[in-house]
Amino acid sequence: MNVEQTPKHIIFNDEPSVSRRGVLGNNLFRNGRRFHNLEGVNYPYPNDTIETNRLKLDHYVSKYAWQGTIFYSPLENELTEGDGFRVLDVGCGSGSWLMEMALDYPKSTFIGVDIAEMMTKEKRPQNVGFIQCNVLEGLPFPNNTFNFVYQSNMISAFTEEQWPLMIDEVIRITKPGGWIELEEKHWIFEDSGPTMEELTNEIVKFALSRGINYHMTPFIYELLETNGKLSNLHSGVTIFSLGGDVLGELAFKSFKELFHAIRIPPLDKMSDLEVEKYFETIRQECETKKTSAKLYKFFAQKKL
Ligand SMILES: C[S@@+](CC[C@H](N)C(=O)[O-])C[C@H]1O[C@@H](n2cnc3c(N)ncnc32)[C@H](O)[C@@H]1O
Repeated sequence: MNVEQTPKHIIFNDEPSVSRRGVLGNNLFRNGRRFHNLEGVNYPYPNDTIETNRLKLDHYVSKYAWQGTIFYSPLENELTEGDGFRVLDVGCGSGSWLMEMALDYPKSTFIGVDIAEMMTKEKRPQNVGFIQCNVLEGLPFPNNTFNFVYQSNMISAFTEEQWPLMIDEVIRITKPGGWIELEEKHWIFEDSGPTMEELTNEIVKFALSRGINYHMTPFIYELLETNGKLSNLHSGVTIFSLGGDVLGELAFKSFKELFHAIRIPPLDKMSDLEVEKYFETIRQECETKKTSAKLYKFFAQKKL
């Protein structure tokens, strides 16, 4: 990550969709799915319409897992008043969080950055902008730009070594006294059956082969604490089931689509019908054993 080369400008809604050189059009297709094809970016999941829709679904799974709350930083008044209030979503994906926030707080300005443009252009509220960029090259904003920086489900986007650097980068572009908020799932499930355990082990192995550590979610707290530039550090955990109830069924659908997309073993040797049967076995195991997953939230204030 080279922060020195970061353009010293900020682009808001007058230029809502901007791509940095070299990012657009760099895709490859595998098993009928579209993936990014950028050197140095380890993120393994697709960026096509199916994935966009999965991310939208996932937004609602998270929202309901938190009982309707989509952020915890104490910023309600500032967001409502607007007055130059700037919010960034790092790795905004489908843009569901950004757009919900933008409609709830029309006086504040919201920017999303992502390597892929999955957020709708047509239905984007006036106070939302988007910049397509590889955040591992640095966030394209000057120091102290945003009042609030949000980032969710980026555990697969950064290697274990990149995580502390990205936290530092997020803090750099946050204003002193501003808040950062991170949300991450823990992909290590509680009370899983043998088939789910088999698949989880493969998922963890696959991720590790790309430098991504699915065991580290609970340790993000320590990364934020040891950074030294944050105060008022909070964390919270909520638990949701995989299968079993309405939320659980949606969470299971999202889980299945995500891991089906990358065809890791043993899915890589299976026909589509066998894949369906395999996931049905997992679904039934999850229901019987009441398998659950943890969703973590961390938020903190940049020291003055
Ligand atoms: C699991 S999705 C999460 C999206 C969104 N934050 C959410 O919670 O729904 C991860 C996102 O990170 C983006 N991403 C991965 N690596 C990236 C990088 N190096 N720079 C910018 N975006 C990246 C992907 O394109 C994808 O949209």
